[in-house]
Amino acid sequence: MRRSVPDRLAILGGPPVRNRPWPAWPEYGDEEREALARVLESRSWGGHPSPNTEAAALCRDFAQYVDAPHAVACANGTVSLTLALQAARIAPGAEVVVPVYTFVATAAAAAAAGCVPVLVDVLPDTYCIDPDQLEDALSPRTEAVIVVHLACCMADMDLVSEICERRGLLLIEDCAHAHGARWRNRGAGSIGDLGSFSMQSSKLLTAGEGGLVTARDATTAQRLQSLVNCGRKEPGYDGFPEQMLGHNLRMTEWQAAIGRAQLARLPDQHRRREARLELFEKELAGIEGLRPLVRDERLTSRATYQFVLRYDPEAFAGVSRSRALAALRAEGVPCSGPFYVPLNEDPLYSQDPLTNPAARAGHAAPPRSFPVARRAAFEEAIWLPHELFLGSEADVSDLVAAFTKLKANAAHLRDARADP
Ligand SMILES: Cc1ncc(COP(=O)(O)O)c(C=O)c1O
Repeated sequence: MRRSVPDRLAILGGPPVRNRPWPAWPEYGDEEREALARVLESRSWGGHPSPNTEAAALCRDFAQYVDAPHAVACANGTVSLTLALQAARIAPGAEVVVPVYTFVATAAAAAAAGCVPVLVDVLPDTYCIDPDQLEDALSPRTEAVIVVHLACCMADMDLVSEICERRGLLLIEDCAHAHGARWRNRGAGSIGDLGSFSMQSSKLLTAGEGGLVTARDATTAQRLQSLVNCGRKEPGYDGFPEQMLGHNLRMTEWQAAIGRAQLARLPDQHRRREARLELFEKELAGIEGLRPLVRDERLTSRATYQFVLRYDPEAFAGVSRSRALAALRAEGVPCSGPFYVPLNEDPLYSQDPLTNPAARAGHAAPPRSFPVARRAAFEEAIWLPHELFLGSEADVSDLVAAFTKLKANAAHLRDARADP
């Protein structure tokens, strides 16, 4: 499928490989229009009574999709993590282990529950939490672990589950990137005690905003249901004996209805993405210095929120990743390098002692270093958004052409001035 590409890099004044748009995200059609009209005409737009009609249907369908016994809808994929800790009755002050290479929400949500996030480095092949370092980070105060299934990989759920079981720790899966991923044919979000999903605009399942928490047991699901609904006990949850201080974190019916229509599209989108990704990976195999993250054979179905390549400047005449990214963008390829930075260096992970219990607990300067996350964030990773793989083979051909052109012109790029 390789096609000949013009010699001169676009960043140096040549014509770009791509100047037409990539597949638009999110996809929508009559199903979403009908969903919105249905909610409009129902005059029942909000999340109350909770769960409302559309939200209850979304939860039922989503739980089935990921093999979880229960799912509860909420406002977004940050509060969903806080809710997961609260519903599991993790005490404020407890330590919660999280990977250092993730969106700030993973740790911020633990902090919002009053817990102390403890940061751990990731594995070089998957950028997911390193189980050995996780175990090293445990202390008598540790009560929970949040793993993040990152980009197109999943954390090693065999090893992490074994550690959590042996040490009596709660295991939460942050599945913000992993709607529909499967590990040994079990849905992401159904393997740990709880799963947390985001439905923010860029995510594989989106309603603009929104979150879903999956739970293994009925009591936890009832607590979740109560916590998102100001601590109320709604019909269907009458048997629930507890009374907790909740908040209004309900999902609106607009979001739930859109989410249902989007969920119906998800299996087909997965198939389309996977077909294009397989082609992309096959073509890339011939370009030295671009290695995809390693696909574990236990990852029986991959959900690709972002496709990550590991860039080796040595194979590109010493051109730095940031310069390579600029060149790729000039060719018309949307891509990111520091998509995430290690949380200990992330300005969003503020060390304000009033809002961050880690700072109060003296974890502001963590004793650990995070070389894998640092290399990924600042030198190595190239993140490609999933919608690039939702289109035609011609789109894949353009992507491959952009990388091929970069490779062929790497020495020239190294020697050229930044501007044409
Ligand atoms: C890994 C991870 N966790 C949590 C979140 C938080 O989700 P939300 O944006 O829905 O609050 C996100 C997404 O933005 C994420 O990427």
